[in-house]
Amino acid sequence: MKEALFDRVARFYDYETQAFTRDIPLYNDVPFYVEYAGECKGEVLELACGTGRVLIPIAAHGIPITGLDASAEMLLIAEKKKKTSPDEIARQITLVQGDMKKFDLKRTYRLIIVAFRSFQCLLTKADQRACLTCINKHLDQDGVLLLDLFAPRHDLLAQRTRSLYLGKFYYEEEGVHVTRRAEDTYDLAAQTLHEDRFYEWTDKQGTFHREVWSFDLAYLFRNEAELLLEACGFSVEDVFGDFKKNPYDYFSGEQIFVARKT
Ligand SMILES: C[S@@+](CC[C@H](N)C(=O)[O-])C[C@H]1O[C@@H](n2cnc3c(N)ncnc32)[C@H](O)[C@@H]1O
Repeated sequence: MKEALFDRVARFYDYETQAFTRDIPLYNDVPFYVEYAGECKGEVLELACGTGRVLIPIAAHGIPITGLDASAEMLLIAEKKKKTSPDEIARQITLVQGDMKKFDLKRTYRLIIVAFRSFQCLLTKADQRACLTCINKHLDQDGVLLLDLFAPRHDLLAQRTRSLYLGKFYYEEEGVHVTRRAEDTYDLAAQTLHEDRFYEWTDKQGTFHREVWSFDLAYLFRNEAELLLEACGFSVEDVFGDFKKNPYDYFSGEQIFVARKT
């Protein structure tokens, strides 16, 4: 099977996201999703569930959840977490390999989550619409979609290219600190961001390692995301700017849409 985008960096994923999502309170998204999952009183579907970073805590609250992802390597990590969870948690979890823009699980859910900007892996309007249409089909009549996108800023886009230092994380498997850097280029016409991300570390023998991972993300502004949601059969109930439910503002960094199937 063809390598999926996240296969190459799956082993780093939980370590690198920890600092961002767990240690910065406004970006700690897990309690936000757990709260909605608890309130929905039914089954949850997480698209692009990755390693189960969000899915496992939801299951740990006794909520049945299905996770779908395109990456076999990301799912392998989620599968390991499921296997090492107590039975009462493991039995809540179903994992499926699939593409979030064309899937058919032959049932509907109370709540669908697309966390941590995963939707932005869909680069074209056609793919974004295909995904939202699929989501709509898989939601109960008044079911809810939670969609998290980063909030683009004109001043940053205008720079066209940016060099970023993304900090370090401790990679337990090899006992090394890995430094992350990125070179970003914006394609303003296509509304996409190309990132070359560099993972660099020196092993215990003193040998320097560098891995480069390149990917593209689409960026969507608030009103276009709302219009897209509306065109695909949703009404937007809230747009938050962080996971403490502060309202979106231009500088919030995040735009989190709470949309209901109409
Ligand atoms: C940033 S990670 C987010 C993982 C997880 N939701 C989280 O919050 O930690 C993005 C995920 O999207 C998945 N992905 C990207 N494109 C996809 C697609 N077309 N269908 C399904 N999964 C996809 C990747 O494999 C990866 O696991």
